[in-house]
Amino acid sequence: MAQKKTIKKNKSSKKNFDNKKTDHGILKEIIRVDHAGEYGATKIYEGQIAIFGKNTKIGKTIKHMADQEQEHIEKFQELIVSERVRPTALLPLWSLAGYTLGVGTALMGEKAAMACTVAVEKVIGEHYNEQIFLLKDDQKKLKSTIKKFAADELEHHDIGIAHDAEKTPGYKLLTKVIELGCKVAIVVSKKI
Ligand SMILES: [Fe+2]
Ligand SMILES: [Fe+2]
Repeated sequence: MAQKKTIKKNKSSKKNFDNKKTDHGILKEIIRVDHAGEYGATKIYEGQIAIFGKNTKIGKTIKHMADQEQEHIEKFQELIVSERVRPTALLPLWSLAGYTLGVGTALMGEKAAMACTVAVEKVIGEHYNEQIFLLKDDQKKLKSTIKKFAADELEHHDIGIAHDAEKTPGYKLLTKVIELGCKVAIVVSKKI
């Protein structure tokens, strides 16, 4: 005898389609993790500029990206205060990790430094694009800020490619390791 299965309607499934209000917890996580990421990015470029010098050709290219990262971090510093978001407790770790990554890849050469940019900006760019879907109509301003920053990160990624990042010996392994590190940092910085 065939059994009849009853399917219960999930009443709570509707709330996920509310497009007006951003989940407060998600908003705080977005600001915390973006603040952490932009802080790390400024440190990576600071480390690379410390090795190359800001007046060399490559140094000037990196400085252009570093200046944009500075604009990004300042915006998230503002939001940390105005939205009363606790910054990640791991900022000192990201500072050290970012700077070390910057110095380390710069010491490996210009192409490796650019490979670092490609890896980092790929992850950050994708991460921003995910956030654009999590932010609802009540956060239009933040949404357009993140869209603008995502475009900057894509530009940085493309600068890296244009500077022969892919010709770095061990490019695939190097970028995979850096991408993984960034992804772990993102997961951890949302919560801690
Ligand atoms: Fe940035
Ligand atoms: Fe960037």
